[in-house]
Amino acid sequence: MRHAVWLTDLRFDFCYEDETNPDLLARYEEFLEHVLEVDPAVVLLGGDTAVSSRLAFCLKHLARVLQPRPVYFVLGNEDFWDSSIATVRREVSELCTHHAGLRYLSAATEPVALTKVIGLVGHDGWPDGRFAKNDMATSALPQDYERIGEFRAADKSGRWQLLNTLGDESAEHLRRLLSKAVERFQVVLLLTHVPPWLELAPHAMTRQYHNDHCASRSAGEAICSVMQTAPRCRLIVLCSHLHGEAEYHPLPNIVALSENPSRGYPCIMRTIDLAESYEELSKEFFA
Ligand SMILES: [Fe+2]
Repeated sequence: MRHAVWLTDLRFDFCYEDETNPDLLARYEEFLEHVLEVDPAVVLLGGDTAVSSRLAFCLKHLARVLQPRPVYFVLGNEDFWDSSIATVRREVSELCTHHAGLRYLSAATEPVALTKVIGLVGHDGWPDGRFAKNDMATSALPQDYERIGEFRAADKSGRWQLLNTLGDESAEHLRRLLSKAVERFQVVLLLTHVPPWLELAPHAMTRQYHNDHCASRSAGEAICSVMQTAPRCRLIVLCSHLHGEAEYHPLPNIVALSENPSRGYPCIMRTIDLAESYEELSKEFFA
């Protein structure tokens, strides 16, 4: 049976940076061999693949090893570290024009048909700051603020505005492509790095001051507004970023999954049967 594998937060660059740990490279290569044994038809890559200086190298390596399987991917915040969001997105889009196996979902203008009944959409996503409870939220300084050009150049209110803008941009992309996808497919997979709902970050909910970096309210609202209009279509949302395992059903026709990838110990998050029937896939995720 054809299936997709979902991988995320690989931080593949670790094995090239840490010379004190040669086993790490072997572990990553063994992991890729394992993926080849599983023999997926499609690979879904959920972001935080490598910091910007190693990103192109790692994406090309993945595409080369996994070929001819298409690698559909989004970027995570750590992929932008030591560069800027605009630069990395531009470079990655350019890279995809030279490597047919690499497909950047944030740059897609149409949903992808995985089968006749299963579609795929995605976007990097960004925590939009709208889950923050108070102004204390901006006092937390994650590495993003120091290592991503757009944030480094902004003051406190500018950073806040940027969180909102990036969240809105992502929500708009998802709204546009998901609206098309629900017209064409019975089941849609949505790949994103940042959780669209805070319920996917249970550990973060107890630390309200970090909420601005956890999830994207605008993306969650956009997704729900589309799925409310298509009750017969089912949506499976795959995200990570917070390294916490959770499942959430914001609507009866949506299941959202967050996983807990372990740094330096890459593994397959999920294997998803690309069943030809709506019923088969629904049974697995909407029991
Ligand atoms: Fe992340």
